[in-house]
Amino acid sequence: MPSIPHLSVSLLLLLVTACANGFSEEKKLLHSEILKDEAVARLFELGKVSDSEEFLERTFQSAASVRAGSLIRRWMEDAGLQTWVDQMGNVHGRHEGLNPREKALLMGSHLDTVIDAGVFDGALGIITALSALKVLKIKGMLGNLKRPVEVIAFSDEEGVRFQSTFLGSAAIAGVLPVSTLQVHDKSGVTVQGSLRMNSIDISEENLLQLKYDPESVYGYVEVHIEQGPVLENVGLPLGLVKGIAGQTRLKVTVKGTQGHAGTVPMKMRRDPMAGAAELIVLLESLCNQPESFLSYDGQCAASAAQSLAGSLVCTVGEISTWPSASNVIPGQVTFTVDIRAMDDLGREAIIYEFSNRIHQICDKRSVLCFVERKHDADAVACDAELSSKLRSAVYAAVGPLSDDELLDMPVLMSGAGHDAMAMSHLTKVAMLFVRCRSGISHSPAEHVLNDDVWAAGMALLEFLESLV
Ligand code: GLV
Ligand code: MN
Ligand code: MN
Repeated sequence: MPSIPHLSVSLLLLLVTACANGFSEEKKLLHSEILKDEAVARLFELGKVSDSEEFLERTFQSAASVRAGSLIRRWMEDAGLQTWVDQMGNVHGRHEGLNPREKALLMGSHLDTVIDAGVFDGALGIITALSALKVLKIKGMLGNLKRPVEVIAFSDEEGVRFQSTFLGSAAIAGVLPVSTLQVHDKSGVTVQGSLRMNSIDISEENLLQLKYDPESVYGYVEVHIEQGPVLENVGLPLGLVKGIAGQTRLKVTVKGTQGHAGTVPMKMRRDPMAGAAELIVLLESLCNQPESFLSYDGQCAASAAQSLAGSLVCTVGEISTWPSASNVIPGQVTFTVDIRAMDDLGREAIIYEFSNRIHQICDKRSVLCFVERKHDADAVACDAELSSKLRSAVYAAVGPLSDDELLDMPVLMSGAGHDAMAMSHLTKVAMLFVRCRSGISHSPAEHVLNDDVWAAGMALLEFLESLV
């Protein structure tokens, strides 16, 4: 989904100038082989590791995600890191640097994908971090890092298999409820069962032990494909993230009376399919024009509608019916709802309004409706100081700028969810967005220019060198 632009004009001018300057010849020669050629080759190699032969799909603990984890682990070793896989399937690579007791910088992104995915979402953040560290290793600087640096390839950010996103990063941040281990997928396999099938024995107790001590962590930095059109529109390869929208996922079940498509008169039907259709259109109207729905009961609701303007988006991405045959009125329909907004109270107001109206519509249609809340994550603000360091690194990577010019603040709000949301419960977070073609992602058409992969790698390298 598109990110929301908050670009200041002066920042734009600065970045345009910086990008026009390009990288210095010396940097180009030194690093393009690893930060560009090898990084791009690895993105496409990882993009081939899929559970399907026709499209890219890697969900939590699937066979392909285990293979992807092994490949990433090899690349971590190649970058000079000590590696391990934890009990939520996260793949870690760490270098202790000069002072193992110092707070560690964490970097990374997720190794899982949506169904029919592109190759950059998640993978870009893992691979650029590893490329930057590999350059440091080649330059003999890895051992000089003033603090430990750890790259984590998180096992689940998309939440496709269990509908419960951030399984990996939330465990490390210590915010994954232990009850999540018993959540099951469509075929009845639990989170715990899926790990056990891959010989990872997780109990409630060792889930709690996965939490990092906040005192041992300096911050978390994530590079990610923008997934929106803003950077392409302004002609820039990189942008900083100011904040990430909050999100809620619901599962709505509508139960009616199963029957024969040819014999039950229209007036006598309790059809959950038509009911679900009405609810889905209601959701669309509500999110298109929250002010028309929320402003009727006073000032408070009106201000909620106002604060949602511009960032509220609602999606029904998955629907299933039983028994799903063309000559049968279904007995049951379930669909998912994904609601996102920068304003957490506004998002709650939408959920409240939607739930109330669901029950009115279902009563009117004499069908039974249930709404389950599957996932919630509040909006997150990126840390100003860490972001400022990352911004300096971006400028240093794409062209020199004076200190004064660095005062300007970034940049983009993210409508997409990221592991940084979960990690913000543990430590300060900052994110760098990389331009993507036509703003398309969650699609095989997702594309990042080779030079932009390189620019992101250069920025991370500069960032890491500031720690040396
Ligand atoms: C992940 O990409 C999400 O925003 O759902
Ligand atoms: Mn995604
Ligand atoms: Mn992602």
